[in-house]
Amino acid sequence: MSFISEILGCGSYLPERVLTNKDLSEMVDTSDEWITQRTGVKRRHVAAEGEFTSHLALTAARQALEAAGIGAQDLDLIVVGTTTPDNTFPATAVKLQKELGMVGGAAFDVQAVCSGFIYALSVADSMVKAGQARSALVVGADTMSRLLDWEDRATCVLFGDGAGAVVLGRAEDKGEGAAWRGVISTHIHSDGELENLLYCDGGPSSTRSTGYLRMLGQDVFRHAVRKLSEVANEALDANGLKTSDIDWFVPHQANKRIIDGTAKKLNMPSEKVILTIEDHANTSAASIPLALSQGVNDGRIQPGHLVLMEAMGGGLTWGAALVRW
Ligand code: UT7
Repeated sequence: MSFISEILGCGSYLPERVLTNKDLSEMVDTSDEWITQRTGVKRRHVAAEGEFTSHLALTAARQALEAAGIGAQDLDLIVVGTTTPDNTFPATAVKLQKELGMVGGAAFDVQAVCSGFIYALSVADSMVKAGQARSALVVGADTMSRLLDWEDRATCVLFGDGAGAVVLGRAEDKGEGAAWRGVISTHIHSDGELENLLYCDGGPSSTRSTGYLRMLGQDVFRHAVRKLSEVANEALDANGLKTSDIDWFVPHQANKRIIDGTAKKLNMPSEKVILTIEDHANTSAASIPLALSQGVNDGRIQPGHLVLMEAMGGGLTWGAALVRW
């Protein structure tokens, strides 16, 4: 028998503290006008002292399990996409396993920065399809505020903290292709030659510290629009679909101008694009599941809808996922 994964539920969490553009303009030489015009960001949530990535992930995971109508004891896999684990080890997924009370199975993190959720979904979906898991919790969670150089105006205005999660369940593949309600296909890529465009200048093995996020913004921007539209088309082509078949486009929320540029290249009407960037900023691996949750909670994403997600991040890594909700 061959298997396929369906989406049983989703959840999300944002820390309470909100940092506005005005707040930032009192910290570095920037303005609400510059940030709004260049990025589309108005405010972002920032984790409190003592609030870690696993805490954000736990609340999102509990919500997703409740929406899915299953308990942690029913899970046999947790994959967390994160670049900001609580500790260098153990994996944040293992901390979640303990906090949720999941017994047995396997839990691990994948690290693909802003593409982390697409990578985590791809890995979990592959394991479900291979018969290695019956149900999986897939989380994107990051506290990028902990990696920011708060004196570097070129980067500190761009990011926020948050977490989002989906629960996958295993079902029999009846050969319905893209008509199936679940993960239809995932497409992941990376190019290590582009590491210098977006990276952290520290790490346990090199500096014994976390370091700070560094980025050549304009170069990343250029790669983003091209790679994101290419990988979105790859997902459509692989399934014999057209842009007009998509009900909702859920892009990684790094910059409103990147989202607009990619949507334009894909001929995706703006009414089909789910946007959270104004209120969340770039939450790295969390941005797609946060946007998915918003679309589901406000009633836009309905059962049976075709959802196209895409993301690009440090590495560079990029990817897309096509899902029928
Ligand atoms: O999720 C991971 C992927 N990340 C991304 O996709 C981010 C991709 N890059 C971007 O989104 C954009 O490149 C940025 C938002 C980071 C920057 O926007 P930009 O339009 O590319 O600006 P720029 O870097 O070309 O800078 C333009 C000017 C510069 O001043 P001069 O040299 O023209 O005098 C910067 O120093 O804006 C200045 N600037 C700022 N001014 C006010 C840079 N940051 C700020 C700031 N406030 N926060």
